[in-house]
Amino acid sequence: MVKSHMNRMTGGNGMLYPIIGFALCVAFIYMSFGDLWIDLHGETKLSFVERNGTQFMVDGKPFYINGWNSYWLMDHGVDESSRSRISAMLQAGAKMGLTVCRTWAFNDGGYNALQISPGRFDERVFRSLDNVIAEARKHGIRLILSLVNNLQAYGGKTQYVQWAWEEGVGLSASNDSFFYDPSILGYFKNYVKTVLTRKNTFTGIEYRDDPTIFAWELINEPRCMTDASGDTLQVFCEFLNPH
Ligand SMILES: *[C@@H]1O[C@H](CO)[C@@H](O)[C@H](O)[C@H]1NC(C)=O
Ligand SMILES: *[C@@H]1O[C@H](CO)[C@@H](O)[C@H](O)[C@H]1NC(C)=O
Repeated sequence: MVKSHMNRMTGGNGMLYPIIGFALCVAFIYMSFGDLWIDLHGETKLSFVERNGTQFMVDGKPFYINGWNSYWLMDHGVDESSRSRISAMLQAGAKMGLTVCRTWAFNDGGYNALQISPGRFDERVFRSLDNVIAEARKHGIRLILSLVNNLQAYGGKTQYVQWAWEEGVGLSASNDSFFYDPSILGYFKNYVKTVLTRKNTFTGIEYRDDPTIFAWELINEPRCMTDASGDTLQVFCEFLNPH
């Protein structure tokens, strides 16, 4: 019974199994070395997301965002023991059909700081951020990179204000001086410039030229408690986005 069934299967389609076998083999090679190819050449086909009116577009088609937030990617990638979490998280997101991940491109002062003090960077941590971006690209995920925290976690604006105090500049009494003190704005502007012009050690692409980065977020959860009108925040944004 089984034998005659087999005969029927192979009898009429003598070429079928070899063809399937060959196809599987090609698929296997592609899946095995596809990533390697990307590693060696540092590129997959990827375009910048653009805007047309209220619609995001990529390659002439609408781009829809199914996003999530994993703020910790750079931080967990510094130590080799936890680095595999980055690719696992991005892979999980990609499998769910998600397209954009928001994550921290900052850590000011403190443990695993990217910016140790104004203008001083830890190359080890920068490489971890390089890795986050390279891994996102590999998994077809785009990133929203946040540049500083309004809150105190990972340093935030309070750390900038403290740096200014320590250097005897920016002597305003309020943590909100982050938004308007010229010395502090100078620190932050220098920070933003360093990040945007960083050349990724894995892909060789400067961050500002990398279509993996969907958007930059100037600051996480900005609040200026001393000016409820919003004007101070508006001026801060315009300072960083001169037209
Ligand atoms: C932008 O949107 C407008 C209005 O929907 C449309 O007519 C135009 O073709 C779009 N342009 C591109 C480049 O897609
Ligand atoms: C700034 O914020 C920190 C943390 O909330 C607080 O400890 C500190 O007193 C604040 N500084 C000023 C000058 O308000």
